[in-house]
Amino acid sequence: MYADQNKMSKKDLRFNSKTIHGGQQPDKAYGAVMPPIYQTSTYAQSTPGGHMGYEYSRSANPTRTALENALASIENGNYGLAFASGLSAMDAVIKLLNPGDEVVSTNDLYGGSYRLFKQVFEKYGITFHFIGMQDAAAIESHINEKTKLIWVETPTNPMMNVIDIRAVSALAKKHQLLLAVDNTFATPYLQRPLDLGADIVMHSATKYLGGHSDVVVGALVVKDKELADQLYFIQNASGAVCGPMDSFLTLRGIKTLHVRMQRHCENGKAIAQYLAKHPKIEKVYWPGFEDHPNHEVAKDQMNGFGGMISFITKGSSYDDAIKIVEKLQVFTLAESLGGVESLAGHPASMTHASIPKTEREKSGVVDALIRLSVGIEDVDDLIADLEQAIG
Ligand SMILES: Cc1ncc(COP(=O)(O)O)c(C=O)c1O
Repeated sequence: MYADQNKMSKKDLRFNSKTIHGGQQPDKAYGAVMPPIYQTSTYAQSTPGGHMGYEYSRSANPTRTALENALASIENGNYGLAFASGLSAMDAVIKLLNPGDEVVSTNDLYGGSYRLFKQVFEKYGITFHFIGMQDAAAIESHINEKTKLIWVETPTNPMMNVIDIRAVSALAKKHQLLLAVDNTFATPYLQRPLDLGADIVMHSATKYLGGHSDVVVGALVVKDKELADQLYFIQNASGAVCGPMDSFLTLRGIKTLHVRMQRHCENGKAIAQYLAKHPKIEKVYWPGFEDHPNHEVAKDQMNGFGGMISFITKGSSYDDAIKIVEKLQVFTLAESLGGVESLAGHPASMTHASIPKTEREKSGVVDALIRLSVGIEDVDDLIADLEQAIG
């Protein structure tokens, strides 16, 4: 009964309604509006194979299904898959490949993603080329007959470069490659890679989708049934699934994604502008600035510029950067991003420590760089905090 009512027109909803209703239906047992946390590993069967759609929670769990449907809906895909972490979602994508295959990847990407590619998968015979992708044409020279996948992170972590997804997608289609986009920083509120031609969207849902710094969850969304089947096979065979409690919390986070992102963008803009005018600040990296090298692409493919900002102080000193992050009081010095609370990080020693210094400095991740995840507090309190910390 519920399913039919709800199938009606949910695909046609606008984004701010999809976050709340997309792929959702009241629970079949009692009509609960939020899906119960089905904290079970297994399901009773009347005869072998005689079950109600669920047999073992690694393969599927109703709370996770509710989250996976929501993920598919907000990214304009057809199939969503929820994993135990962002990295395990990436792990599943790379397991689509075989020894001998090659991947062309963004060079300025989350340190853990780099570590997974280099230190886990290269030893299984998969080769990764890390390159700057702001000029999409430059990617083509790294493609050969062994290339199977292009991995794009945009905006990049932590340098806030923006990569033209449409242009990379044209290249991927020309060479019959898969294109995967890590959409963690932008979220589907700002950018929907599948609409721009990507085959796979990936999230560290730990960040903006969950939104409250209380879960570690990963997500993949695709349109194509065959690709979805391959990924479901890997998800079940490798087993890095998202548990029912984390599924529930992430689903709850998604319901307010649009209102949180609106405020993240407003606060991000105010703080980027404040830092840009500060006499002690050398450089601010935020794609909303007109003189950001990829501003036009950002304006074209994103609905706003987000709340992630990186900056360096004049003199580019490591000690100054450390002093600032230690003095912050409303911003918390911590790994991660995308929660309601503002966080500050020192990428060289925290999120990007697993990238060798010479490699990370090539893409701008110098010892003096500070990264801010601007939260949704009162922006005047955030500015006052930066004022006292920068001095
Ligand atoms: C852009 C990006 N991708 C992937 C990840 C990995 O996600 P997780 O920490 O959920 O495994 C992170 C984590 O910080 C990230 O920032």
